[in-house]
Amino acid sequence: MSKRLNSIIEWVDERFPLTANWRAHLSEYYAPKNFNFWYYFGSLAMLVLVNQLITGIFLTMNYKPDASLAFASVEYIMRDVDYGWLIRYMHSTGASMFFVVVYLHMFRGMMYGSYRKPRELLWLVGMAIFFVLMSLAFTGYILPWGQMSYWGAQVIVSMFGAIPFIGETLSNWLLGDFTLSDAALNRFFAYHVVTLPILLVTLVLVHIIALHEVGSNNPDGIEIKANRNPETKIPVDGIPFHPYYSVKDIMGVVVFLMVFCGIIFFAPEMGGYFLEYNNFVPANTLQTPDHIAPVWYFTPYYSMLRAVTVNFLWIDAKLWGVILMAASVVVFCFLPWLDKSPVKSIRYKGPYFKFALTLFVISFFVLGWLGTKAPTPLFTLLAQIFTVIYFAFFILMPWYSKIDKTKPEPKRVK
Ligand code: HEM
Repeated sequence: MSKRLNSIIEWVDERFPLTANWRAHLSEYYAPKNFNFWYYFGSLAMLVLVNQLITGIFLTMNYKPDASLAFASVEYIMRDVDYGWLIRYMHSTGASMFFVVVYLHMFRGMMYGSYRKPRELLWLVGMAIFFVLMSLAFTGYILPWGQMSYWGAQVIVSMFGAIPFIGETLSNWLLGDFTLSDAALNRFFAYHVVTLPILLVTLVLVHIIALHEVGSNNPDGIEIKANRNPETKIPVDGIPFHPYYSVKDIMGVVVFLMVFCGIIFFAPEMGGYFLEYNNFVPANTLQTPDHIAPVWYFTPYYSMLRAVTVNFLWIDAKLWGVILMAASVVVFCFLPWLDKSPVKSIRYKGPYFKFALTLFVISFFVLGWLGTKAPTPLFTLLAQIFTVIYFAFFILMPWYSKIDKTKPEPKRVK
């Protein structure tokens, strides 16, 4: 390193802990040496986050948050703004890829028991991130003010209306009007471009701080900090994050960007899954589309919302649907306390857990697929069956994780 650069770093270090942070979080942050494919998705989520922030700023320069101008302003971005089409497709594809990456990231946590002690708080911060991400996707989808933006938002807002006593007041307060209108579009825009991104970035920082406090889990689910070199105090199964994992993550970034560009340039609508066809039609408050469906990443929950068809106790079917849908996401928060297995990783867990996780994944996909379809009696029955399977994974976990036949964990990572 040149003398000049060294003296600049020294100058900064005297005023800001630059080298100390570089060491603590990168060059002397020891991560388990056995990270595999599943450990790419945290850094990829950060990449997508940066992509959304940058492309979002450029979209905001030309977008008009006004019910009479919004749709045309998006068309203007697509047709007249220099590279507007690219920026918009990077943002819309980024939204879907955010969910692909975060779902895989969460699934990794479920496989390797990364939510277990001492990472419960890290998991809960992750869940807070997930809630904010869902809100970001929802508010963003409203902005083009197409048919799906309008009627999709109408479905969600009417869910708030189903809450007893306060429902109507709450939805009027959320909308700033008695119907979904310009006032709502304005405030959803404010949430989408200011409030929620700030919250998301803050939560991601907290997520990383929590991760570096407890250290990463790994595919064997054993704590590398428990086995340190007596002299150096460095975990014997740890390697410095930089350069080993910074280089590994770059490899993930390259492959990801190839897929990302492939979608942007060859299939930006992804057959109506990333951008729905009905959203290329301006919002018409007098004409409900034949079939309202959210974007793919919300369809499993949407299926559960529609699965309840009977009133039960004093609660009507619609409110049960809303309760079930909320529960289907919130239930992930309880995983750290539902899992009673003596081991963390799926590698050492028994057949019950493997079977339950497989069924859960199948139910998630089937519910996701059903959510894209118009309901028929058969589809509704299927949604009910798979909703039961989905919840059984969580509710029965304390039981099957306890009686499962586990293998002993090794002392060192493999
Ligand atoms: C914007 C979204 C997110 C970003 C940028 C992000 C970032 C990261 C990064 C960089 C890591 C370390 C690298 C890795 O393990 O892959 C990590 C680990 C982790 N994240 Fe996230 N994360 C996000 C969302 C979530 C969500 C939604 C959850 C779960 C509810 C979650 C739970 C975890 C857990 C448990 C770990 C530790 C995993 C282990 O050590 O095995 N994260 N996250």
